[in-house]
Amino acid sequence: MTWAKLAWRASATVVFVVLAAVAFAQAPPAPSSAAIAKGPWLMRPATTSLTVMWELAGEPAAGTVPGEVAYGTARDALTQKAAATFDKKTATARLSSLKPDTRYYYRARSGEAESEVGTFLTAPEQAKTWRFLVYGDTRSSPKSHAAVVAAMMKHAEADQRFVLNTGDMVQRGREYAQWEEQFFTPAAPLLLNHPLLPVMGNHEGHADWYYHFFDVPGSGKEENYYAFDYANARFVVIDTEASTAPESPQGRWIEQELKGNTRDWLFVSYHKPALSSGAHGNDAVVFRDLLPTLEKHHVDAVFAGHDHNYERSEKDGIVHVTAGGGGAPMNPMPGLKLKAKANPWSKVYRNAFHFCQVTVSGKTMTCEVILTDGSKLDEFTIDKTRPPAPPVAVPAPKSEGPPPVPGAKPQGPPPVPAPAPAGSGKEDDY
Ligand SMILES: [Fe+2]
Repeated sequence: MTWAKLAWRASATVVFVVLAAVAFAQAPPAPSSAAIAKGPWLMRPATTSLTVMWELAGEPAAGTVPGEVAYGTARDALTQKAAATFDKKTATARLSSLKPDTRYYYRARSGEAESEVGTFLTAPEQAKTWRFLVYGDTRSSPKSHAAVVAAMMKHAEADQRFVLNTGDMVQRGREYAQWEEQFFTPAAPLLLNHPLLPVMGNHEGHADWYYHFFDVPGSGKEENYYAFDYANARFVVIDTEASTAPESPQGRWIEQELKGNTRDWLFVSYHKPALSSGAHGNDAVVFRDLLPTLEKHHVDAVFAGHDHNYERSEKDGIVHVTAGGGGAPMNPMPGLKLKAKANPWSKVYRNAFHFCQVTVSGKTMTCEVILTDGSKLDEFTIDKTRPPAPPVAVPAPKSEGPPPVPGAKPQGPPPVPAPAPAGSGKEDDY
């Protein structure tokens, strides 16, 4: 071999090595092969953005891509991509520049692991007819929780925008395994297609996992309470495991959020009901610290949980719903007496698994309460296009809940027991 040929071969080898090194540096790292263990679930519904989250069964290999979401407005054309970030096995992808009031389809992917295709609707910019779901107290019995979710999916209208969970999603929020067993697995079909709005329950108890799994919208500085506007409504989500007293940080924030509402509707959600005929009865702290503020600002409806039953109460212009029939052991429970006498504002009470579907249509809203067999337990409408109706006498409750007694008059507010200190985060047994 001549010197010229040797030199050519040497230079060609150098070029090849350099090109290969450049190509390797530019190529995406090998994908992770970890399977998807939880989700996907959707957070932060809005007009032009949404968060998609999912959890991998294991840590991805160092340097690998944590994942991405492919999405688009047609199921068979998921042409847009959003890269995920990664923390403690959980991937988070933020979808942006979405079109308002539009149906999207999406699929999450981490390496070779792919989710099934889910779908969601973005929020409308203008007031129109739109729906959302409410349920709560989904803890402790995955079978019962799954039955409620199955009923929701069977009953589901195509245009339900999101699901509000009124708290106590799991028995013990600090136990990682319970989040999969009691919440993410039974609720998987629902969470795939409906963004979740979570509420802090006493069983979550400010556990780190609550903050890790959930990404909430709006203006709250902490994720345990937050507010957001959706179409022609404002939602204010409150943490009844922290102080709601007017002079507390959360109390001052609540005042601002309620006072600043410019939408047609003002909906509030928290876990412990101010008015309840169930085993817990009226929550003395919420009754004392929060209820006057809600009434002062003309809140339209409150969605609570905590007591494992359905109840609708009406007091001073606010409809109070307890939607605690999401799967937890149903009231009455052994050794616990119901407290119907404490709640003369009750209109409907029932011990049954259920969920609520709320339809907002301009200045009218209707809440349908559906049992697991698909039958309707209750329905009420708030119509703001009509002048307010004159006050109606509240029927007196019976001992096992409050079926109406025609002509009965309320006896005024019942004595409310001395409140326990708020914010202890202590979990009770029920
Ligand atoms: Fe609770």
